[in-house]
Amino acid sequence: MLSTLVSRAATALVLGSTAVHALTVDIDSASSIKDTAATIAYDMMTFYKGNQSGGIIGVLPGPPPNPPTGYYWWESGAMWGTLIDYWHYTGDSSYNDVTAKGIQAQVGEDLDMMPRNWSQSMGNDDQGFWGMTVMSAAETNFQNPPAGAPGWLALAQAVFNTQARRPDDECGGGLRWQVYPYLTGYDYKNSIANGCFFNIAARLARYTDNHTYYDHAETTWDWIRSVGYMDANYNVYDGGHIQYNCTDINKVQFSYNIAVWLLGAANMYNYTNGSTIWEERVNLLLNSTFNTFFPDDIAYEVACEPKLTCTTDMFSFKAYVTRWLAATSLIAPFTRDRIMPKLKTSAVAAAKQCSGGDNGRMCGLSWSKGEVWDGTQGVGQQMAAMSALFVNLLPLETIAPPLTNATGGTSEGNPDAGSQSVVNPEAMRPATGGDKAGAGIVTTLVLVGATAMFGWMSIGD
Ligand SMILES: *[C@@H]1O[C@H](CO)[C@@H](O)[C@H](O)[C@H]1NC(C)=O
Ligand SMILES: *[C@@H]1O[C@H](CO)[C@@H](O)[C@H](O)[C@H]1NC(C)=O
Ligand SMILES: *[C@@H]1O[C@H](CO)[C@@H](O)[C@H](O)[C@H]1NC(C)=O
Ligand SMILES: *[C@@H]1O[C@H](CO)[C@@H](O)[C@H](O)[C@H]1NC(C)=O
Ligand SMILES: *[C@@H]1O[C@H](CO)[C@@H](O)[C@H](O)[C@H]1NC(C)=O
Ligand SMILES: *[C@@H]1O[C@H](CO)[C@@H](O)[C@H](O)[C@H]1NC(C)=O
Ligand SMILES: *[C@@H]1O[C@H](CO)[C@@H](O)[C@H](O)[C@H]1NC(C)=O
Ligand SMILES: *[C@@H]1O[C@H](CO)[C@@H](O)[C@H](O)[C@H]1NC(C)=O
Repeated sequence: MLSTLVSRAATALVLGSTAVHALTVDIDSASSIKDTAATIAYDMMTFYKGNQSGGIIGVLPGPPPNPPTGYYWWESGAMWGTLIDYWHYTGDSSYNDVTAKGIQAQVGEDLDMMPRNWSQSMGNDDQGFWGMTVMSAAETNFQNPPAGAPGWLALAQAVFNTQARRPDDECGGGLRWQVYPYLTGYDYKNSIANGCFFNIAARLARYTDNHTYYDHAETTWDWIRSVGYMDANYNVYDGGHIQYNCTDINKVQFSYNIAVWLLGAANMYNYTNGSTIWEERVNLLLNSTFNTFFPDDIAYEVACEPKLTCTTDMFSFKAYVTRWLAATSLIAPFTRDRIMPKLKTSAVAAAKQCSGGDNGRMCGLSWSKGEVWDGTQGVGQQMAAMSALFVNLLPLETIAPPLTNATGGTSEGNPDAGSQSVVNPEAMRPATGGDKAGAGIVTTLVLVGATAMFGWMSIGD
């Protein structure tokens, strides 16, 4: 099943008790932040084998096809997005070429971030994460693809266009979790798949100043409110099944679910030149994010961190929360004074957790535990700690806000991108084997049934 707890090596706890090599950072010093983030980035990239013999360019080792260890395809896309932000904040371009080539190797046969290789595990959220990564590339003027290859913006538009035609009438609208009918999870409609689409649509509206994207984002917002995945207090729950008209809501809360909506809402706020309706929504989501995920002002993955039952996917969520909070503060500046202090305390705590592994500085996830390494390590933990650190350059240096086509963004777009994509999903069914579980993102846990809240804890054991 899922690649749970791969990183809890038996030896880890022994090494963890030493904790003498914990990374340190002076959070008020730009050079200190950059040094520490660079170390974490370097250690993170030791997991990437795409450029070595036997590796696949752009993809971390992992399932499918080699369970139980490793990473699902989406997380590679998330890692490249994190490295784009890493470069944008720190100016360190060491990984730009490998990032650009990695993304370009995975654009897919139809140039829509949906390569056929991964059609046995393709969720709308998986495609969406790669979509958000190419959107970040456009917004930061990341080095453009060579002439003839689609621009970052065009790739994001392809993700939007392919997904915009997928919502159906079940549960009154919204995207399903999985793209293809033969995948387990096709009957599930969830917050992350729809949140990625909302996020990309809102950012495309802002980047291109095209109101069509806004309309789609607004429809998606209205839908998630209507099904109650985002409740009156702006808690964001995981999802529900079409057999129950999406009323069997799995109320587990993950930090990336709310954060993906928060950044989308901040883009809607910015695109509408500061409308009060989107200002209020940003405020409410922000308050909910802090209330649920920042006890003691330190980012905390409440659903799995207490007992470290996080899956490989979950170990990475704090990376997105920290980056998306920082981006929110740039385009909805009224939030900045509330966001930055919490990112600061989180970063100081995160650096202390980088005190384990063979080199004595691999990062755990348990930021609230100080220097006592929690015995876990992996790309997700590295990504999260690194992101927490580099966003703290915001108060220290001039970091450009996400660009738009009107403010210097040079990414080449194509409003019709993705319109040629395969529309016959059966053509994507793997030649061998039965129907596969959508390996997509975290919510595989709901497949274990009604006791999903607790069932997932045992998936990987
Ligand atoms: C692989 O690494 C080599 C040497 O570092 C580099 O020149 C090349 O561009 C890399 N290839 C890809 C596809 O990233
Ligand atoms: C698709 O998978 C095959 C087999 O693992 C691999 O050789 C190839 O490089 C992959 N292609 C892409 C674009 O990832
Ligand atoms: C199904 O859910 C949608 C969205 O909440 C709602 O609009 C619709 O009325 C529901 N249909 C039934 C038959 O309950
Ligand atoms: C925001 O303001 C700009 C400049 O005044 C204007 O061109 C644009 O149409 C406005 N956008 C919206 C969505 O109202
Ligand atoms: C929109 O974002 C820009 C940064 O690109 C920022 O300068 C501006 O103040 C934001 N607009 C509003 C209404 O906050
Ligand atoms: C959000 O929290 C802040 C600080 O606790 C509070 O002042 C504000 O009223 C809250 N906003 C909303 C919309 O609930
Ligand atoms: C983006 O900006 C360029 C240069 O200012 C302009 O030529 C182009 O038409 C714009 N594209 C869109 C989609 O607005
Ligand atoms: C705006 O986006 C929509 C949706 O992709 C597209 O059909 C339309 O051509 C775009 N308009 C412009 C002016 O680019």
